[in-house]
Amino acid sequence: MDAPQAVESVEIQILVDNVTDSLSTVPSFVETEWAGLGRRRQGSWVLAGSCMCCAAHGLSCVITVRKGAAARTLLFDSGPEDAVFEQNVSRLGVNLGPVETIVLSHGHFDHGGAMLRALQLIRDRNGGRAVPYYAHPDMFRTRATKMPNGSMRLLEDVPSVENLMAYGAEVVNTKEPQLLLDGMAYVSGEIPRVTGFEKGLPGQHRKTLDGRSWELDELVMDERFLVLHVGNKGLIVFTACSHAGVINVLKHAKNSFPDVPLFALIGGFHLTGSNERIIPETVEAMREFDLAVIAPGHCTGWRAVNALANAFGDSKLAPLAVGKRYSF
Ligand SMILES: [Fe+2]
Repeated sequence: MDAPQAVESVEIQILVDNVTDSLSTVPSFVETEWAGLGRRRQGSWVLAGSCMCCAAHGLSCVITVRKGAAARTLLFDSGPEDAVFEQNVSRLGVNLGPVETIVLSHGHFDHGGAMLRALQLIRDRNGGRAVPYYAHPDMFRTRATKMPNGSMRLLEDVPSVENLMAYGAEVVNTKEPQLLLDGMAYVSGEIPRVTGFEKGLPGQHRKTLDGRSWELDELVMDERFLVLHVGNKGLIVFTACSHAGVINVLKHAKNSFPDVPLFALIGGFHLTGSNERIIPETVEAMREFDLAVIAPGHCTGWRAVNALANAFGDSKLAPLAVGKRYSF
């Protein structure tokens, strides 16, 4: 498959992230939540809790690519629940009407929990048009984590195909990679697991196809990532949770499009909990990709963010926070 078409600019508006941080200084391509408030409410305005976003465990962003007169927009994940999604969209002044495609990164509640409300809000503003929704068939299996005492801790299901269709989604349910927005964005298929140290999500199980029992599902093969292509810079890889391992993600992106340099890595790198032990190998392995921008967020964890900052320096690190806007 060809690389996504080069566009003139990409704007990524973070709607939901684990962190809120408008005080740390940011590079010129990042606008903080509060700076955005100031830009939108020119003149006198009062900084108050009632105009701020809510951070929550999860990830969601709206991505707009621009080329000539065209501006094309997609929603990547929705975060964990309706109230946070809707409040942040409203407080950030984001118009969801232009969202023409939705992509779900994988079948976890912290990425798909607010999808029905998102569909409702989009269709309230687009004249009721149906919205293509890209998913992988295994995202819809019930998931659980096996606890040390042998019990299963259930994860809330993401909205089913039937419910999505009832809310106006046209579900494209496939394991294959896809070009979106007339070729201006790409969503990967399943991510090959090639590194020796990235083992997935220890203890995760899913219901078997007949729904009667549990099977081990540590690899979370339904996860995929997005790629965008900024003409004068290179590829932006947006990986929501990196259960494949963020180095496997980078390797697959590079192998898929060997003729275009990687420019930025954005998203959740899942280097928390038992994955904290692979932080050193991950940071070391990331060097070969020569990324200009590394924007860790969501499930990356503070230890990994610190390690990345120590290895690559402040000039490359631009951690995510709710309400931040990235312009490339
Ligand atoms: Fe996640």
